[in-house]
Amino acid sequence: LPVYVVMGFDSLHGYTQFPPPPYFGATIGRYANRIGGAKFTLDGKTYTLDKNDGANSLHGGFHGFDKVMWKAKPAVATGLQNIEFSYLSKDGEEGYPGNLTVMVSYTLTNDNDLRIHYSAIADQDTVINLTNHSYFNLSGHDAGEILDHVLTINADRFTPVDGGLIPTGELRKVEGTPFDFRQPHSVGERIGAKDEQLTLASGYDHNWILNRKGTGLEFAARVSDPKSGRVIECLTTEPAIQFYTGNFLDGSFKGKDGKPYVHRGALTLETQHYPDSPNHPDFPTTTLKAGQQFDSTTVFRFSTQQ
Ligand code: GLA
Repeated sequence: LPVYVVMGFDSLHGYTQFPPPPYFGATIGRYANRIGGAKFTLDGKTYTLDKNDGANSLHGGFHGFDKVMWKAKPAVATGLQNIEFSYLSKDGEEGYPGNLTVMVSYTLTNDNDLRIHYSAIADQDTVINLTNHSYFNLSGHDAGEILDHVLTINADRFTPVDGGLIPTGELRKVEGTPFDFRQPHSVGERIGAKDEQLTLASGYDHNWILNRKGTGLEFAARVSDPKSGRVIECLTTEPAIQFYTGNFLDGSFKGKDGKPYVHRGALTLETQHYPDSPNHPDFPTTTLKAGQQFDSTTVFRFSTQQ
């Protein structure tokens, strides 16, 4: 029998049901993670977004890229398993400016790399932040908590948040905190520590600033599962990663084979620009200028260890 290492549903209905499930396997856009106050100003104009997360906008709004129908086509020319999705997000959709044409391709290589490539172009200046919201449990999608998974994140700093999970603007060193994953630690080792940031997010749900040498594909994170020996390495061209421990899962969503998806039953590795960047001019910019090509790649490299 196959072992599913990501959460998901057996059919489209699972993804379109109400209340909407929390982004299982989804492409997130136009803006991954939160925009504080659900508004931002660009070229002197203020844009208002959906408040779908308290006072803030999360993952593109009520009807983000996870809720729309994409065109799909196999791109077999490379000889590899490959599928390409495209979508036209119209000017004003979910409050964002500009017609944005976006493409996401998934390629499974012969080295067990799942390569996700994003590209986009807009006819007006806009903001963009794309990610993939897969929930991984390397023991299996229904195997229970991921607290024993061992994690490394290649980051010296993270962005602390306020009560609405919006970055305060501080770039904080991970050193001496439960956020230090520069050496491997189990997810659960410090998740219950007395720490203001862990309390605010009911666990890990933060943006780590990746240590980078340049702009290419670089090592971001590694997760291994001592039970199964399965390993994922994550590489990306993005400057940051949201590591989230499924704190909002509560068993109410039944996924593949009707299995309930329990609290902390999976983790996500959402490569991204920092949350709320449009309201933080000192963060790496998420502005996409009219006619400029957006390009981003993330690889999930699967392997096994003894
Ligand atoms: C991201 C966010 C979390 C949560 C999940 C989906 O990881 O940072 O706060 O919204 O998506 O539930």
